[in-house]
Amino acid sequence: MRVGILGSGLMGGKLGTIFARAGHEVVFTYARRREKLEQLARDAGGNARAGTPREAAQEADALLLAVHWSRMEDVLHQAGDLSGKVILSCSLPMNADDTGLVIAHTSSGAEELVQMIPRARIVSAFNTVPSEVLFGVYEARGKDSRPSLVYCGDDERGKAVAADLIRDVGFDPVDAGPLRIARYTEPFALLVAQLAYEGDGGPELAYRFERFEE
Ligand SMILES: NC(=O)c1ccc[n+]([C@@H]2O[C@H](COP(=O)([O-])OP(=O)(O)OC[C@H]3O[C@@H](n4cnc5c(N)ncnc54)[C@H](OP(=O)(O)O)[C@@H]3O)[C@@H](O)[C@H]2O)c1
Repeated sequence: MRVGILGSGLMGGKLGTIFARAGHEVVFTYARRREKLEQLARDAGGNARAGTPREAAQEADALLLAVHWSRMEDVLHQAGDLSGKVILSCSLPMNADDTGLVIAHTSSGAEELVQMIPRARIVSAFNTVPSEVLFGVYEARGKDSRPSLVYCGDDERGKAVAADLIRDVGFDPVDAGPLRIARYTEPFALLVAQLAYEGDGGPELAYRFERFEE
């Protein structure tokens, strides 16, 4: 696939590198310095290059949206027409100092994106995982038991693309349902972050769901 990275920071830089190493054609875009994008493309080692959000948007089979919420309007403006595009968003609707969500409970950042780009195929994915674990998951991908990663969306084609990319990183993709479920996965991401940064003594999250029958 041709994958455009809109926001090449901790999440976009790492996921773009993994996608390139997994064999996808990657365009890194949207950092403050062009040299950073070029360096990322060189370090990715696969089929990767630096570009602009507009170039990435025009050519991509899938786009990863990985910017701070405060940069969303700007990056979407730079990307141009995104009609029909598959967009995986890991962006959380965080406030300026990253202490809380500015949209929650009755909506989500992912649902707000649908208002901003109504004709795009939006999937909420990769927002519940700290960037620090991504390379480790990719390196361990051959193992039998893979960590699960939930994603959600209303567009079936977008979700199929997202599941493939999630699998390529080394996760087992778990379809959590329609896009409105992002109302619950986005706050869950803050819980994960709270626990993940506690240090070595922090707990491992483990859970198991039973299906309930009437
Ligand atoms: N980090 C995590 O573990 C994590 C986990 C789950 C979800 N998320 C969410 O994922 C999204 C991205 O997070 P992140 O940690 O990857 O953020 P980040 O490291 O700050 O990356 C954001 C990217 O946007 C670029 N940028 C910022 N201001 C810009 C400007 N004025 N012009 C052009 N480019 C600009 C940054 O450029 P520079 O590279 O030049 O700084 C960087 O490449 C956020 O919504 C976050 O809430 C993050």
